[in-house]
Amino acid sequence: ADTVTYDWDIEWTRANPDGLQERSVIGINGQWPCPLLNITKGDRVVVNVVNKLGNESTSIHFHGLYQNGTNSMDGPVGATQCEIPPGGKFTYDFTIDQPGTYWYHSHVRAQYPDGIRGQLLVHDPENPYNGQFDEELPLTLSDWYHDEMPGLIAGFISVTNPTGAEPVPKSALMNDTQNLTISVQPDKTYFLRITNIGAFAGQYFWIEGHTLKIVEVDGIYTEPAEADMIYLTAAQRYGVLVTTKSDTSANFPIMGSMDTDLFDTLPADLNYNVTGWLVYDDTAQKPTAAEIDEFDPFDDFTLVPQDGEMLLGDVDYSFNLDMKMDNLGDGANYAFFNDKTYVVPKVPTLYTALTSQDQATNVAVYGSDTNAFVLEKGEVVEIVLNNDDAGKHPFHLHGHAFQAVVRSDENAGFYDSNNHSAFPTSPMRRDTFMVKPQSNIVIRFRADNPGVWLFHCHIEWHIASGLVATMIEAPLELQKTLTIPEDHFQACRDSNTPYQGN
Ligand code: C2O
Repeated sequence: ADTVTYDWDIEWTRANPDGLQERSVIGINGQWPCPLLNITKGDRVVVNVVNKLGNESTSIHFHGLYQNGTNSMDGPVGATQCEIPPGGKFTYDFTIDQPGTYWYHSHVRAQYPDGIRGQLLVHDPENPYNGQFDEELPLTLSDWYHDEMPGLIAGFISVTNPTGAEPVPKSALMNDTQNLTISVQPDKTYFLRITNIGAFAGQYFWIEGHTLKIVEVDGIYTEPAEADMIYLTAAQRYGVLVTTKSDTSANFPIMGSMDTDLFDTLPADLNYNVTGWLVYDDTAQKPTAAEIDEFDPFDDFTLVPQDGEMLLGDVDYSFNLDMKMDNLGDGANYAFFNDKTYVVPKVPTLYTALTSQDQATNVAVYGSDTNAFVLEKGEVVEIVLNNDDAGKHPFHLHGHAFQAVVRSDENAGFYDSNNHSAFPTSPMRRDTFMVKPQSNIVIRFRADNPGVWLFHCHIEWHIASGLVATMIEAPLELQKTLTIPEDHFQACRDSNTPYQGN
């Protein structure tokens, strides 16, 4: 295995990815789009971050990585680290022992939609599908805003927006452009690795005239499943095999279409589709896509993991997260789990766990604003998520791929443990899973990864409005095994955080 080192200056630059408006964006080493990271399973990755933004703090989260033994490298500010203030430095250093399609993004306030997000592919010498494809192709989908996030957030959480209507993006992007062409050869199979790196909108994805053979979701190999169209919520990934035609006379649209059900309003100038092209013949025309009147994506709930892992049957600890959106005394709209809205703690929850000695298993030490749950080492945990809101929400758990055990239909209401659909024998595993409006999902995982892991809606607006809980997993073991590098405490000192390390 190799050590792959990146030196990243996080800094503002300019870009105009939809051709409609140039704006300031947060890039890396003066470049935007941010780089694609190609890693081989087993590699150690070292990312030396220098915050050169001048006016904002930052952090980087590597979405979907388990960070087993390296919880302090996970990235969410207030959970596992202090913010990296302007001028500050911070090193992420971890080994990647899992294959698949991932991404990285800032995890402080709602920063990543301003540009600091990119794809991370972990290549696998033991990929069971090796030999079945000729080439890998990275592909990202994203929504795009013209205004910067600090202003949008201030308007979103304010008395002038009591219903909590989320800002609607202006455009959709594919590989951070609206002019993507992918040149292909006939009779070949491509491994397309698709990630929704957007802030808000789920996207429908299809390639006209071609079948998508799903072989991976969120880093987990699946039994092959054929689809004409898939749906990716913000933060979800799919690995699909696409076999090209023998006939090279025509080119085909590659389509992304934002799910407008999520938007409270549909502005007339909204560009909800993005078109790219699979190009067989670069002298032939690039056709426009056919109109779609009904979206009918593949049902991810039917996927089966390739390793056949069985349902975790004996649940040791089950709890509900009942979510709703409502107003607080200040007149603004917030999101709640069990009537509590998450507030980012000043001292990262991980440091509280490490310094609380045997009190670390007492949920009270984490304060009521973190929506904390203490999990025992090795137990099977079940989260029942009841969505009392009229919107769809993609829920993400850090540090794990969980089993998706139940996803009820729209308007099914709260979960009833005595009356539910049959559990799959070998449930799909992934790290981001959508609950439908006024409905419920149930997920299970084994608490085999000591650490502090967030569970949250991956819509950036809803993280800002508090739709976050904290899993404190095996804290006493964490105290014995985890060491925090000195530069992490330096970030706390530089940002004047109350706990500044030893
Ligand atoms: Cu992409 Cu908290 O995560």
